[in-house]
Amino acid sequence: MVDQKDAHKISCYSEGLAGIPVAESAVSSVDGQRGYLEYRGIDIEQLAENSSFEETSWLLLYGELPTVDELATFKDELCHHRRIKFRLRDMMKCFPESAHPMDSLQATVAALGMFYPFPKSWEGKLDPKNVHQVFVNMLAKVPTLVAAHARMRHGDDPIAPRDDLTHAANFYYMLTGNEPDELVTRIMDVALIVHAEHTMNASTFSTLVVSSSHADPYTSISAGIGSLSGPLHGGANEDVLNMLDEISSVDEVEGYLKGKLDRKEKISGLGHRVYKTKDPRATLLQKLYEQLTEQLGADPTYEIASRIEELSHHTLGKRGICPNVDFYSGIVYRKLGIPTDVFTPIFAVARVAGWLAHWKEQLGVGRIYRPAQIYTGKKGLSYVPMDERN
Ligand SMILES: CC(C)(COP(=O)(O)OP(=O)(O)OC[C@H]1O[C@@H](n2cnc3c(N)ncnc32)[C@H](O)[C@@H]1OP(=O)(O)O)[C@@H](O)C(=O)NCCC(=O)NCCS
Repeated sequence: MVDQKDAHKISCYSEGLAGIPVAESAVSSVDGQRGYLEYRGIDIEQLAENSSFEETSWLLLYGELPTVDELATFKDELCHHRRIKFRLRDMMKCFPESAHPMDSLQATVAALGMFYPFPKSWEGKLDPKNVHQVFVNMLAKVPTLVAAHARMRHGDDPIAPRDDLTHAANFYYMLTGNEPDELVTRIMDVALIVHAEHTMNASTFSTLVVSSSHADPYTSISAGIGSLSGPLHGGANEDVLNMLDEISSVDEVEGYLKGKLDRKEKISGLGHRVYKTKDPRATLLQKLYEQLTEQLGADPTYEIASRIEELSHHTLGKRGICPNVDFYSGIVYRKLGIPTDVFTPIFAVARVAGWLAHWKEQLGVGRIYRPAQIYTGKKGLSYVPMDERN
């Protein structure tokens, strides 16, 4: 039953909530026809060119680019909160070796909330310092949780974070054990920037639905991580590489695509609810890969991906089904020596910034999500005793 005051707002049912606004937001905007994305009004290309992940996170969280002092303090805070409690590492040791890194991340982020309790009933009296502490904790510790699990599942010790490295460089270092050079650092930084936020999507909405009940922010972000893990969302970056690995040469691409489309299967990394043209983030990630090849040489996976893009342009492209953010990201990460099942956790490391920006926005609204449904079941039946059922 819909409240009388809400009744006038109900227009129609839309599967997957397509086209239905679920919140007002000033965090980011997408022009799906032109392939244009802005964070707080600033074009993503300009941020990728000039900003750092730390600075972009501040922009998303506080709505403005930081001053020199604000950025320096924020970077210091992030550095000093990178370490995680040994109990969290012990918890990860108990996970099965086969545990997917996204499942580990979802569990350990939820567990963070037990170590850093958030005020239970905060309505109307939330201290901004508590909110800022959540930003710092979450942004600083999520990369450490990802890197620690990636190593511990193979029996290796986690690598302690280093205070002399930037957010992106330290993450890469903890993950691979190698100190990144300038190019690799820049590539990791840009990859984090372009994944940091993307308007209202399944994981952001999941975060907001959970936090709308005033559940703590760690529980809410952990719900976002669960949502991101699916192959229709962030999990697609892993699926793209698995798909490319199934194709052994460029000559096989045409037959492979035809087979998939004949069987009505989707091609991972193509298509988007909002973009009807190539995702601007895919273009930026493709450029990053090209920069990497100047140093490390090209590889056949990229040739196969380019051929898929070229061929699908003539078929799916006409219907607005084009490369999305996940199409080229995995190729970049593989080139950097990162295991395939850690691709989606890298997406999460970045997207924490966007989830938190929306979470903060929602603190000022505060109405619990309680949508309506269209009931299609039976009504008014009587209970039938067991011995009378056939
Ligand atoms: C992203 C995605 C979930 C968007 O979904 P959506 O807006 O609900 O669109 P639908 O899944 O309803 O697709 C609409 C039509 O396009 C087709 N389509 C969408 N993406 C496709 C793809 N990657 N390959 C082939 N066909 C695709 C669907 O089969 C459907 O065709 P139909 O109308 O003949 O049934 C969808 O494009 C997809 O599953 N892509 C692959 C997974 C992926 O890359 N996800 C990451 C997104 S950033």
